[in-house]
Amino acid sequence: MKIAVLMGGISSEKEVSLRTGQAITKALLTKGYDAFSLILDRDNFVKALMETEYDLAYIALHGEFGEDGRVQGLLDILGKKYTGSGAVESGITMDKDLTKKMLDIHGILSPKTYRNVEEIKKYPVVIKPTTEGSSVGLYICQNDKDVENALRNLQGKEIIIEDFIKGDELTVGVLNGEALGVLRIKPLSGVYDFESKYTKGKTEYEFPAQISETAYKKAMEISEKVHKELKLKGATRSDFILRGEELYFLEVNTSPGMTETSLLPKIATLKNIDFETLVEKIVCSVEK
Ligand SMILES: Nc1ncnc2c1ncn2[C@@H]1O[C@H](COP(=O)(O)OP(=O)(O)O)[C@@H](O)[C@H]1O
Ligand SMILES: [Mg+2]
Repeated sequence: MKIAVLMGGISSEKEVSLRTGQAITKALLTKGYDAFSLILDRDNFVKALMETEYDLAYIALHGEFGEDGRVQGLLDILGKKYTGSGAVESGITMDKDLTKKMLDIHGILSPKTYRNVEEIKKYPVVIKPTTEGSSVGLYICQNDKDVENALRNLQGKEIIIEDFIKGDELTVGVLNGEALGVLRIKPLSGVYDFESKYTKGKTEYEFPAQISETAYKKAMEISEKVHKELKLKGATRSDFILRGEELYFLEVNTSPGMTETSLLPKIATLKNIDFETLVEKIVCSVEK
């Protein structure tokens, strides 16, 4: 079986994807797979997927045209198997607003969403693009002026406005429907922004998260529920804020980062799964 590791792409997370992708190719080669890196960009995107020879696509792309169902749809049309969630499910979870609405049906708590700025009752609020990742375009607004500034900078993008929840930042990895563990993120700057996410030493990680047993269990259960109810496959990672004992769901990632500073590989070690084995398990989870 020949595995093409798809990486790069055209989203704002392109550089992150390249790092994730290289690490995955290396892991697959270590495990003895016939794998190679397929770097995609705006010019070769469709052509490369059509003309390169491979049996399985390992999707190491993030964001737009990678994690949002569109590359999955293209691979479906080409009759190629791929890792992770399907086209429709990837599309839904890429949209933070739609995801929250769907999970609300299942009683999963998330920060209150405002449909427009006039509805904002109290500060702080978070304004972020509905379909970006890696904290790109994230604004924490303390007043009307901050909101104006955020809206100006995000012009042309669909946005989501929600209550800012002050609490502990948690993330939970799920592999094939089973939660692997809870990790607590402690960004030294106080905000888990792009820099904190990808610069070594800018964030401390606590795994397993030192939170109450009840909260830990709840985070595991909710993440499994998110994975199941949204019909996700392979590996996913759900982000939360824990305030007291209240757990607020922020978003689910269907193509979690696998870089040196990434969270899913750290969480997997809680189940004694090393990086190479994690990658292998993701490949093996693809239905034959
Ligand atoms: N409503 C919120 N309250 C508090 N912090 C938030 C909120 N929304 C986002 N954040 C912060 O911004 C980060 C990125 O937001 P998230 O919704 O996970 O999007 P993404 O990771 O796709 O950029 C979170 O990890 C968290 O630190
Ligand atoms: Mg996130």
